[in-house]
Amino acid sequence: MEIDPSSASVVEVYQALVDLVAPRPIAWVTTIDGQRRVNLAPFSFFNTFGANPPIVVFSPTLRRDGSRKDTLKNLESVGEFVVNAAVASLAREVNLTAKEIPAGESEAVLAGLELVPSVKVRPPRVALSPSHLECRVRQIISCGDGPIAANLVIAEVVLIHIDDHVLDPAGRVDPRALRSIARLGRDYFCRTTDLFEMERP
Ligand SMILES: Cc1cc2nc3c(=O)[nH]c(=O)nc-3n(C[C@H](O)[C@H](O)[C@H](O)COP(=O)(O)O)c2cc1C
Repeated sequence: MEIDPSSASVVEVYQALVDLVAPRPIAWVTTIDGQRRVNLAPFSFFNTFGANPPIVVFSPTLRRDGSRKDTLKNLESVGEFVVNAAVASLAREVNLTAKEIPAGESEAVLAGLELVPSVKVRPPRVALSPSHLECRVRQIISCGDGPIAANLVIAEVVLIHIDDHVLDPAGRVDPRALRSIARLGRDYFCRTTDLFEMERP
């Protein structure tokens, strides 16, 4: 099978990409609008790209009707956000906060999640998440204006919180304690319970 994006439908291309580029880590992102109303949503077009300065990138795509998601609008007006860790114990809540609800209504309330203040940015943090990245937007690159077009939010991490209970005795994050979840294609997710180690050559 071959899929040529120049002739295939956008949905077919999207499905092939998310099926194949997997598993993807999940940024569970809190933002606020100009009236300080909190928005929370998961984004698996997400990764980190360097540490000096510490950079993360995620992409709230345009909706299938071409409109901009609330997270993107919030970041254009208030250029700050928090990446809350998406972990196995919060999987149901992560998924629930992907629900399209009217702008200004909070997915955190919908999912019954307690929020706590951040230190360097205005959007709050999900209290139960075992780690948080406080971020400031450096640049947003829009890659198109049609359905499912990417908007690369390039941001600098200005503060990293890690709960002590996910640290090993040496002070490094223990993946067995963090228990991240990740996203595959369709409605599949995966856990990080099947680990193996290889020493770097
Ligand atoms: C696990 C998961 C990952 C998701 N990843 C993305 C993503 O990378 N980009 C995107 O635009 N939407 C993604 N979505 C859908 C958004 O979360 C959804 O459109 C949400 O309603 C956007 O919220 P907002 O309009 O409040 O910003 C994902 C949904 C789930 C459940």
